[in-house]
Amino acid sequence: MKKIIVVYYSNKGSNRYLAAKISKSLSCEIEEIKPRLNIFILFLMNIHLGIRPLKHRIEDYDLVILCGPIWMGKLIPPLRRFIANYFNDINKLIFVTCCGSTDAKKDEKFGHGLVFREVANILKDKCLICQSFPVGLVLPDGKKEDADAFMKTHLNDENFKGEIQERFDIFLKTVHEICR
Ligand SMILES: Cc1cc2nc3c(=O)[nH]c(=O)nc-3n(C[C@H](O)[C@H](O)[C@H](O)COP(=O)(O)O)c2cc1C
Repeated sequence: MKKIIVVYYSNKGSNRYLAAKISKSLSCEIEEIKPRLNIFILFLMNIHLGIRPLKHRIEDYDLVILCGPIWMGKLIPPLRRFIANYFNDINKLIFVTCCGSTDAKKDEKFGHGLVFREVANILKDKCLICQSFPVGLVLPDGKKEDADAFMKTHLNDENFKGEIQERFDIFLKTVHEICR
């Protein structure tokens, strides 16, 4: 098995939950990206002061699993900064997001597909796969596309079951295959 680290940023906790679940399932290290100025509203205006240096040496890992949310259809500043600061240290990367956009809407203005393409463009062959876990997967039919519902929903042990658990299990299998 290759050496893996999960690196994540989360504002409301869903990506923290997902990152911790990945790290636990793979028995690998995990570290949170800590912005120097963690003011959400400023991130939305693209105002930020970068991130604090990580404690782990990213170059020591064969694979980084980068996990974080999508806001306004953008690769958010903490994740963008991590990629820029550690570009040369990253061997291979998998990008994972717990986001609001569904698979059906992934290529729309605020869809995760746009961010996936951007991550792949920046990292070129360092980027192995991008995987979405839309919050709607834990919502009942009829609420999956409801922006108000997914904004108020956060992943936890209670709701992480069914469709999202199935997607998670397939994701883990893929990571195991990549790391064989
Ligand atoms: C201000 C704001 C803008 C958002 N914009 C998008 C978006 O453009 N596309 C998307 O897929 N999700 C969007 N979301 C949903 C978040 O990606 C989703 O709620 C995510 O799970 C939050 O992660 P966190 O709990 O780790 O902070 C947005 C959420 C907020 C609060």
